[in-house]
Amino acid sequence: MVSRRCMQMKNSKKCLPILLCIGTVIVFYGMFQCSNSPKSYMIPRESVKYVYDDKNIAIPYDQNSPLIFIGGMPRSGTTLMRVMMDAHPDVRCGEETRVIPRILGMRNHWQKSEIERKRLIEAGINDAVIDSAVSAFILEIIAKHGDAAPRLCNKDPFTLKSSQYLSTLFPNAKFILMIRDGRAVIHSVISRKVTISGFDLKNPKMCLEKWNSAMEVMYAQCLRVGPLKCMPVYYEQLALHPDLWMHRILEFVDLPWNNSVLHHEDFIGKPGGASLSKTEKSTDQVIKPVNIEALSKWVGFYSEDIIENMAKIAPMLQTLGYDPNKNPPDYGKPDPKVSDNTMHIKQNMEYWRQKEQEILAKEKKAGHRQPPPPPI
Ligand SMILES: *[C@@H]1O[C@H](CO)[C@@H](O)[C@H](O)[C@H]1NC(C)=O
Repeated sequence: MVSRRCMQMKNSKKCLPILLCIGTVIVFYGMFQCSNSPKSYMIPRESVKYVYDDKNIAIPYDQNSPLIFIGGMPRSGTTLMRVMMDAHPDVRCGEETRVIPRILGMRNHWQKSEIERKRLIEAGINDAVIDSAVSAFILEIIAKHGDAAPRLCNKDPFTLKSSQYLSTLFPNAKFILMIRDGRAVIHSVISRKVTISGFDLKNPKMCLEKWNSAMEVMYAQCLRVGPLKCMPVYYEQLALHPDLWMHRILEFVDLPWNNSVLHHEDFIGKPGGASLSKTEKSTDQVIKPVNIEALSKWVGFYSEDIIENMAKIAPMLQTLGYDPNKNPPDYGKPDPKVSDNTMHIKQNMEYWRQKEQEILAKEKKAGHRQPPPPPI
């Protein structure tokens, strides 16, 4: 009131003292407020944002979006799972982002160190501030690293170590934990030279132990968020019975059935389908239809000493239902379609090698598609 009347006055010099006085009051009030923790943040309360699809239709996303997180140990079928989901017309997962597990690791680190935590809180960076920043980071990466889609999905194997935290950031998120016989996982990690921090590829026993502890964490997290939010999926079962399991999985994530998910190989490198990364080691496998070529390849790989002590080295095998003393255990009988695929692939190695080259060359040429600019 005072200031408006003041502004209306012809001679503005007269109102200088009044303005100064009001200013001082505001400054003191501010200082008093700041002595407590901040009461408001410089973020809008309504934080819905939009990505735009190829028809420039706006797709909203925010913390409450029904995101899908796919994870597990590397070499456990996480890539197969995500390209099958990518084949669904409503879903986009895309390549591993690599930065999402890292930001989760950093946040863990900030939490773990007592001293660091204290310093951050003194600086006003409490849990609520960190959570808000971390969730915004994750959401932006997921939404913008690929094409827009009604259902956004993420596949970075180790994010499932943080399912519990992620489900507090994103209350409507669902988690798919890929599980595979650890002996097959480690055989694949070593023979394909997949570098994972902490894994010594020259030491199979140590790698099996690492598989065990990673699965312990991820399985426990999955159980804690509960069966409504986290679904364990056995790679062997998905490969043997893709029809049955994809029906279950789509129902779990509340998506309508679409036959495309059983023909993921037809959608690779196509608009709306799955784009592949040259650096993801599974690329040569997921261009093929679902098959069981690789299920028991590990037999004969481990030394007698390791085989004898398998139950002790990797107790999670037993926990997850794999007989540690059977080499290999009985994974079950494939659907006829899967048997056909497997036979076809074995008989046509050269065809698949060429197809891989073609797809990778095409992906490289296309580069990363830019999203269209938002309408003004
Ligand atoms: C499955 O998706 C395709 C697009 O990829 C669509 O044309 C088809 O109608 C869908 N089928 C069903 C049963 O929804």
